[in-house]
Amino acid sequence: MATTTLWDSFLKPFFQTFLINQDELEHLHRLIDWSAGEAQFAPTQPYPAYYRQNFHGITGGYLTETAAVTYDPITRYVLPPNEDWVRQGLIERIGGQPRRILDLGCGTGSLTLALKEHFPQAEVLGLDLSPQMLTMADYKARQRGVKVTWYQGLAEKTPFPHHSFDLISISLLFHETPPAITPAILQECFRLLSPGGQLFILDGNQDQLRHNEWLTEVFEEPYIQAFARGDLNDALQNAGFEQVKTEEHWWFHQISQGRKPLPIQDRTFHPDSALNLTGNPSFAC
Ligand SMILES: C[S@@+](CC[C@H](N)C(=O)[O-])C[C@H]1O[C@@H](n2cnc3c(N)ncnc32)[C@H](O)[C@@H]1O
Repeated sequence: MATTTLWDSFLKPFFQTFLINQDELEHLHRLIDWSAGEAQFAPTQPYPAYYRQNFHGITGGYLTETAAVTYDPITRYVLPPNEDWVRQGLIERIGGQPRRILDLGCGTGSLTLALKEHFPQAEVLGLDLSPQMLTMADYKARQRGVKVTWYQGLAEKTPFPHHSFDLISISLLFHETPPAITPAILQECFRLLSPGGQLFILDGNQDQLRHNEWLTEVFEEPYIQAFARGDLNDALQNAGFEQVKTEEHWWFHQISQGRKPLPIQDRTFHPDSALNLTGNPSFAC
């Protein structure tokens, strides 16, 4: 697969020649203290087998400095029509003022930082398996003067107690996890959210991916075809979420959301509830 993707045979050389400034990347690479980052975010458990493989044609996948340095410049071009607009679409759907936000599979922290900038009063955490991606995220946070806490770990088995968050975001993760892992991550989200808490997921548009198979062959993405066959609405409902919906977002993408139900006895109207994520009258937790 590594040598047959459109990415390897055409797009990668094109990006390297025309779209990515190698000198700038090398300069950025030198500015970052990778060994300090790798010590700070050292893994506490073995990496799962599904993760230890190549993604996007990069040998070693996300466990490399190359992946961490090249991720943002490439992502700028592969989230049409504009990366900021695409990410902003998720943020704009969040109603109310979440107080504790978790961004799972946060990568280099692009969404995590945007969430913190949009909700400056919130405590924002980003979790990822890759020490290198977290090192880059931490570097970006320092550069922007934004305070986010970064954790190394598995999205499907986090160290946080039940009901720790009122908002969880997941962007561009599920097309990179095998079908058995996606429900495990959603169950973990359900456990972590407080009643009434919301989950937002930005990813590739499953409907378009199903009908345009070439889109699943552009990059070296080992699980994207399984993702395309799936249905995040079903997965969210199976995990126990309510008010589930998925909306197409700029044709290529989709934004899914679900809410953790309130206990039946607490479904009384409460106008002062701090969190009103749906834009509807809120209910006491
Ligand atoms: C395509 S990147 C998305 C990064 C970021 N969310 C964004 O929107 O740019 C996928 C990220 O998920 C991380 N990842 C993959 N499987 C994971 C898992 N089981 N637990 C935590 N992170 C995971 C990878 O290390 C990588 O940083």
